[in-house]
Amino acid sequence: MNRYIMKGGNPLVGEVQISGAKNAALGILAASIMTDENVVIENLPDVRDINVMLEAIQEIGANVERLDRHTVQINASSIHAVSVDDEYIRRIRASYYFIGALLGKYKSAEVPLPGGCNIGSRPIDQHLKGFRALGARIEIERGAVLAHAIDLVGGHIYLDVVSVGATINIMMAAALAEGQTILENAAKEPHVVDVANFLNSMGANIKGAGTDIIRIRGVRRFHGTEYSIIPDQIEAGTFMCGAAVTRGDVTVKNVIPKHLEAISAKLLEIGCEVIEGDDEVRVVGRPRQRSTNIKTLPYPGFPTDMQPQMAVTLALTEGTSMITESIFENRFKYVDELTRMGGCIKVEGNVAVIDGVKGFTGAQLESPDLRAGAALVLAGLAAEGYTVVDEIGYIQRGYECFEEKLQRLGASIEMVDSEKKANKFRLKTG
Ligand code: UD1
Repeated sequence: MNRYIMKGGNPLVGEVQISGAKNAALGILAASIMTDENVVIENLPDVRDINVMLEAIQEIGANVERLDRHTVQINASSIHAVSVDDEYIRRIRASYYFIGALLGKYKSAEVPLPGGCNIGSRPIDQHLKGFRALGARIEIERGAVLAHAIDLVGGHIYLDVVSVGATINIMMAAALAEGQTILENAAKEPHVVDVANFLNSMGANIKGAGTDIIRIRGVRRFHGTEYSIIPDQIEAGTFMCGAAVTRGDVTVKNVIPKHLEAISAKLLEIGCEVIEGDDEVRVVGRPRQRSTNIKTLPYPGFPTDMQPQMAVTLALTEGTSMITESIFENRFKYVDELTRMGGCIKVEGNVAVIDGVKGFTGAQLESPDLRAGAALVLAGLAAEGYTVVDEIGYIQRGYECFEEKLQRLGASIEMVDSEKKANKFRLKTG
């Protein structure tokens, strides 16, 4: 079983190239099967969730050719099944995007109900409400969503909760429906805009993505395209927090600073220096950093996917911070692990109260989910002594070459698969 072992104490210093956005890529890969022509997708992150998605696309009959590590060409003219059923795809949340993509193109889809990180109850009722409003018949049978339509016809849809997944999914199906769809209370996340831009590059007519009203005029068919995915806001934010928590100096390169504003604002509030360039952001940590309060909210609010990394940062500041998690109820599972490192955090419902401490001490930790796992690695890099983080499969779902990027910033971290190798690391770094 692979795990990370690290010796904390080195400040992260230097530059790091940020990969393509996983969550945008998942939507875009699903949407790429909506045309029979060639689609070339660039800046694809080489992470587990993406590779699972590519396998699933192949499984239903599309041709996937890797042009290089970060570029694929997809041709979906040979799709022979509208039923996606693969043991891996059940484990990734974004499998639900196949419902919108297949329903739009083939008016029929059979997709297992999604898995993904266990960060709380994750219903898809808003997705289904949208598909029904477009005229699809939806049934849930044997753990799968069965969606069928004779004709998909545009409609007026109001989302009861702001949902990234529902917005993207409905947008995909509506883009090949007849007539106009108006989607209100839509999510405004950068990856919603990226998927809309991708669909438009295939010939869709989508306006207003990035605002809370999206207008989609259905077209008959899509054509091929070449498209480059936006940089990953959460990967960038994770390294920014890494600079803060280790009191380092990190420049995240190949980013869109506007997408990072909520994170930059909080790092400034706690006393870090944040310098924005055209496509980079530099974060300089300070020996004494202050507490602050955070509430996770849909974009442009503070992203829930950055909540654990920010909590680790706040746990090593002076004073008391409060984090309110308003998107997912089960996102504080890393708190017990941080407590074992000397963190002082109490959770009451959806609020975590963090009393800053002077330092962490290394411990044996288990990664509870993707973002919390990355946050625990940051904690280990700031801690005194050795930390081991288990269950790193979660982290590999969403971070490309995490340990290599950290090593290049001066971190003492290695991925090991045995106690023998862990001991070797201890000897080497002791
Ligand atoms: C996506 C991201 C995830 C991120 C989240 C919020 C992907 C693959 N995952 O997840 O990393 O944490 O956005 O930014 O892109 N909800 C409903 N009914 C629905 C759909 C959602 O009640 O039909 C609720 C959810 O329980 C949650 C909130 O709406 O409380 C937001 O969820 P949503 O934006 O849909 O998250 P995901 O698309 O699952």
